[in-house]
Amino acid sequence: MAISLAQSTLFSKTSLFLRSSCNGLNRLTFCVPFSSGSSLSTKKKWKPPVASVLELGGVKIAKGDVVRDDPTNNVPDIIFAKLGMQLHRRKQHPIGILKNAIFEYFDANYPNKFDTFDDLCPIVSVKQNFDDVLVPADHVSRSFNDTYYIDSQTVLRCHTSAHQAELLRGGHTHFLVTGDVYRRDSIDSTHYPVFHQMEGVCVFSPEDWEASGVDGTDYAAQDLKKCLEGLARHLFGAVEMRWIDTYFPFTNPSYELEIYFQDKWLEVLGCGVTEQEILKRSGKLDNVAWAFGLGLERLAMVLFDIPDIRLFWSTDERFTSQFSQGQLGVKFKPFSKYPPCYKDMSFWISESFTENNLCEVVRGVAGDLVEEVSLIDNFTNKKGMTSQCYRIAYRSMERSLTDEEINDLQWQVRDQVQNKLNVVLR
Ligand code: DAH
Repeated sequence: MAISLAQSTLFSKTSLFLRSSCNGLNRLTFCVPFSSGSSLSTKKKWKPPVASVLELGGVKIAKGDVVRDDPTNNVPDIIFAKLGMQLHRRKQHPIGILKNAIFEYFDANYPNKFDTFDDLCPIVSVKQNFDDVLVPADHVSRSFNDTYYIDSQTVLRCHTSAHQAELLRGGHTHFLVTGDVYRRDSIDSTHYPVFHQMEGVCVFSPEDWEASGVDGTDYAAQDLKKCLEGLARHLFGAVEMRWIDTYFPFTNPSYELEIYFQDKWLEVLGCGVTEQEILKRSGKLDNVAWAFGLGLERLAMVLFDIPDIRLFWSTDERFTSQFSQGQLGVKFKPFSKYPPCYKDMSFWISESFTENNLCEVVRGVAGDLVEEVSLIDNFTNKKGMTSQCYRIAYRSMERSLTDEEINDLQWQVRDQVQNKLNVVLR
């Protein structure tokens, strides 16, 4: 999946959930951590306990409801372990601090206008995640390779847009939805299979635009741009900005906002005027709306100078103690940069091989000890067989890794790659 820019807009360009009542995802009971496929029996480090049962708005969800040994299920243990963590609800965490700074902007400029939701259940139907927001039936984002499926009709939401339609149907006209979203993806310093987004929607009635002399779509587009330029200034100060025309299935026209920050153009968010079909289906025939979606990690990495997306999940005090409630943009001071260790592996691939599947295997073995997986060689021989060589960078954010530990991880990766991915190691 070609998402170059830190997981903000999966649906842009041409590439590019279950019980609506289940609000309030809370950790419920605790048990020994689930196996992550690692068998470092002698050196196993203590890990924080992981919930075995989560409560989703009064509905208890057991690990077995989410992770199943079934061909229509591709959710690994380590993803289940992230459900209910809700970094966006922690006031002292960079993701929570950023969310609150955005709320502050909306509160100041639109007092009491926007309803906020930040505990909607991340388990949603295929209909909510894709159909309701008009994602085409053959869109790549629906694939098993890109999205975590619980069963053929149920997924872990891959964007907060999954909640647009139900909230509109429920009568909400101004709302902000913040939540954890899940995507199968490659591994590097800006991509992690769980991250956080905020969605904004604002609905207008004919009386809003009639006096303005422009039609509803133009009125909404102008209002959207004004609102989001103000938000960007609130977060980044007096920066240069530009609007880029783009494509999203759910908006028309669609735009990306970029800001010139630290000598680079940075994509901040995706947005647009909501497709009339979405409003029509929610009974809002005469209305016009705008919507936006932004990736909180990608903005927080820039605002707080956080160099690696894995750090957001760190429980190391040297990370967590650097941030406080209400303090947007405090610059993170790296406590130490531990050395990386690179391991290469080459194999003949089969037709079914994908980089995302490889990354799932590597993460299943090495967890957050893997920093990057990159393709460094690719060739096809005369017989038509394709060989690929991947370089795995192992590096802990918190300590030095021993050779022995890394070799052990790499052997397990080799073993599982061979057994699970239908490739032939060279
Ligand atoms: N859902 C999009 C994504 O994850 C982001 C987005 C773009 C949301 C435009 C919107 C929007 O509401 O109007 O890539």
